Amino acid sequence: MERAWNRKVSIPDVLVAQPSRRLTGKARVPGDKSISHRALMFGACAVGISRVMGLLESADVLATATALRAMGVPVSREAKGVWTITGRGSGGLSEPVRPIDCGNSGTSARLLAGLVASQPIRVIFTGDDSLSRRPMRRIMRPLAVFGARITARNGEHLPLVVEGARDPLPVCWRPEVASAQVKSAILLAALNTPGRTTVIESTATRDHSERMLRAMGAALSVERTEEGHAISIEGPAELHPFEIAVPGDPSSAAFPMVAALIVEEGEVRLPGIGLNPTRTGLIDTLVEMGADIAIANRRTVGGEPVGDIMVRGGRALTAVSPDPAQVPAMIDEFPILFVAAACAKGRSIFRGIGDLRAKESDRIAEMAKGLSAMGVRVEEGPDCLVIEGVGGPLAGDVEIDAAGDHRIAMAFAVAGLAARAPVRIRGSESIATSFPGFVDLMRDLGARILEAAE
Ligand code: S3P
Repeated sequence: MERAWNRKVSIPDVLVAQPSRRLTGKARVPGDKSISHRALMFGACAVGISRVMGLLESADVLATATALRAMGVPVSREAKGVWTITGRGSGGLSEPVRPIDCGNSGTSARLLAGLVASQPIRVIFTGDDSLSRRPMRRIMRPLAVFGARITARNGEHLPLVVEGARDPLPVCWRPEVASAQVKSAILLAALNTPGRTTVIESTATRDHSERMLRAMGAALSVERTEEGHAISIEGPAELHPFEIAVPGDPSSAAFPMVAALIVEEGEVRLPGIGLNPTRTGLIDTLVEMGADIAIANRRTVGGEPVGDIMVRGGRALTAVSPDPAQVPAMIDEFPILFVAAACAKGRSIFRGIGDLRAKESDRIAEMAKGLSAMGVRVEEGPDCLVIEGVGGPLAGDVEIDAAGDHRIAMAFAVAGLAARAPVRIRGSESIATSFPGFVDLMRDLGARILEAAE
């Protein structure tokens, strides 16, 4: 099994997306990335063996699995997508011999730092160039209040050295940015901290951690206060092991969804997609733009709402200016939403999106650059983007640099399908971080995405 789960899924670095008239069929998108990371980490804190079905086997999630193993947690792959984790209880990690390489994964770095912060071990976290540029102060500050000693390059960047607290103290924290990663890092640190830890978020972010912890028996409560959502947890927590099926990732489903809407003829069915309301901002926004999207067979899977999404293209999309309060519910979907807005008729204004500059790349700048190269008029502000939709196919015959960012690569691969001429995307290898089967899935629907000789 060793060989299989360490296997690297490789995607060629240069892809060419050719204009594709028709996209039809049913496509099964892989498991949710956020839920997969959490299943591994919370499973590691349970007492007993947890089993996960439909785990996303992408580079980011494998980084978390490898990290946990390095800290003494038995994690094994039984079959494709089926994994078991032998939990060591809250506070049961051992000190790793070597630095932990988080690769491109911000979720691994930030959440694992939280997990380590309340255990008496010292861990060095490293990452690739992109992750080494991303801000870490947002987790360093609250984790220091638990009593962890954390140092970082330039006080802010990986490598991060985390010396967990021997006698951690509970924390009450109001994150300055709306971030599920910050919230989850704090909740993970709280698991081995005696007393009541509280996170107060002014804008609600994805609540997968809260759902999973509750299902595992944690004493967790959520209260609406004047300041926002107050999430409290009592530690130390004794968590029950679980068996969970991971829903399809709405952030991956976003690509075939928008593709079906912007090509000439699209009719795509995406079964079993997570529909947690903290993640469905894109669907709501596309419907507001005039998209025909229906949801059937609503059910609950792994404590999360799930449904089958049916997308029918052929309707002209119109511009949209989403409420900034909706931003966290579609934070990872902006690159592909910008493509939809570029094909729509009219001026779209996206406000309150400054944190997109701190993702795997500066997603405002990279999307603005790529869309301009495709003939779209855009205007960038520090935390906003204005897109003058062309009301039809974009110009092609360009080469886009995805800046090592998986979602930028996939967004332009989709843009190329609805363009007047091919689009070459350099840096497509990065797609393996979240959606290793992207090219095959899109091809099965009829997309003409080719590998280019460099
Ligand atoms: C994630 C939260 C979001 C998101 C990321 C995954 C998570 O990050 O962009 O892809 O799993 O908690 P932020 O918390 O930084 O917004």
